[in-house]
Amino acid sequence: MTAVAPPQPASLRQRLSAPTLGAHLAACSIAPRTSEVDHALRRMLDDLGRPGFWQACEHQATLARELFARLVGADVDQVAILPNASVAAYQAAASRRWGRRREILTTYAEFPGIAHVWLARKGMRVRWCGSPPGTVSADDYLAQITDRTGLVSVPLVTYRDSVRLDVRRVADAAHAAGAAVLVDAYQAAGVMPLDVGAMGCDYLVAGTGKYLLGLPGLAFLYVRQPGAGPAPTLTGWLGRAAPHTLRATVLDSPPHARRYETGTPAAAAVYAAVAGLSLVNDLDLQQVRRHTQRLIATTARRLRAQGEMVRMASAPDAQGAHLALVDAHPEAMSVWLGHRGIVTAPRSGVLRLATHAYTTDEDIDAACEAVAAYRHHAGHHRSGTPR
Ligand SMILES: Cc1ncc(COP(=O)(O)O)c(C=O)c1O
Repeated sequence: MTAVAPPQPASLRQRLSAPTLGAHLAACSIAPRTSEVDHALRRMLDDLGRPGFWQACEHQATLARELFARLVGADVDQVAILPNASVAAYQAAASRRWGRRREILTTYAEFPGIAHVWLARKGMRVRWCGSPPGTVSADDYLAQITDRTGLVSVPLVTYRDSVRLDVRRVADAAHAAGAAVLVDAYQAAGVMPLDVGAMGCDYLVAGTGKYLLGLPGLAFLYVRQPGAGPAPTLTGWLGRAAPHTLRATVLDSPPHARRYETGTPAAAAVYAAVAGLSLVNDLDLQQVRRHTQRLIATTARRLRAQGEMVRMASAPDAQGAHLALVDAHPEAMSVWLGHRGIVTAPRSGVLRLATHAYTTDEDIDAACEAVAAYRHHAGHHRSGTPR
């Protein structure tokens, strides 16, 4: 039998649907609209008009767990569906027996919502590595893991500067010291290969609203040993061993990761998750990674030649799929570019330009030219950040 070659990265381009047919460089914030998600949402509305909507929705949730498990190299029983990455992180922490290890090691570069979950945890001390507002390396983690560390929380790719951390090194050191490791892969899932076994993590969280090409409203939690910890106290009927028995007086917890699920998920996000994950699982993610790395290197070179300042990781392999262009008022620049069909993602002091399989060299040309035009405009009108 002849093997079917996975689609070339740029073939995903044909799946983008209007009105995001300009240069969508914002998947680090929100996925572009695709024809698959359009179809999935139409299918959801059709299902809504027929008997058996809940069964159809549950079937989609089952598919979503399976597709995510396949994406990260996990077993489906290690995967739970939750409403967002913050709740997924909360559930991971709730599954720990902390003993005398009362410290969570995180980084200034952590997505704030995840750090807030750690800060809100009673009886725990949060320790920070790297330097504010968001510079961090694996060495920074290694220097701070102690025998008091219970959990090490590592973003696989940092949300602002797009630095890809060597999670395996951190995980090995954490495990040697007796601590568990949680990886926030929201800025990586969908745009590079992920393997929970190779990373050596105990937990991984990722949502569907960005590079996974779905909608916001759904995140996955991977748990290496789902039955090992205490029963979750944030729970609901979907966290039961047999949810459909609906016995109000029985609070059991199955040994698989669905014990961390709570109540009814956002149906639209579930349907969209299946659509997005199907697209992503069809791609050769190694090839996608090479494609985005090449585009990021080109963008950085061009922007620097235009006199721009960009934050780059120390080595190409330590760079995520977006580029952080330094600007004092990135929101203003983003609006200006948006009016010219270039969709970007501003975030505290940087304008993020995110690449994916569908990103083309023409998108990068258009973005670099628009940034130059913006500087020209800002210089004359004193509205942006003239330099
Ligand atoms: C790395 C990372 N983690 C988590 C989130 C979002 O967390 P939540 O799903 O809880 O809103 C984001 C962005 O929105 C992110 O970039």
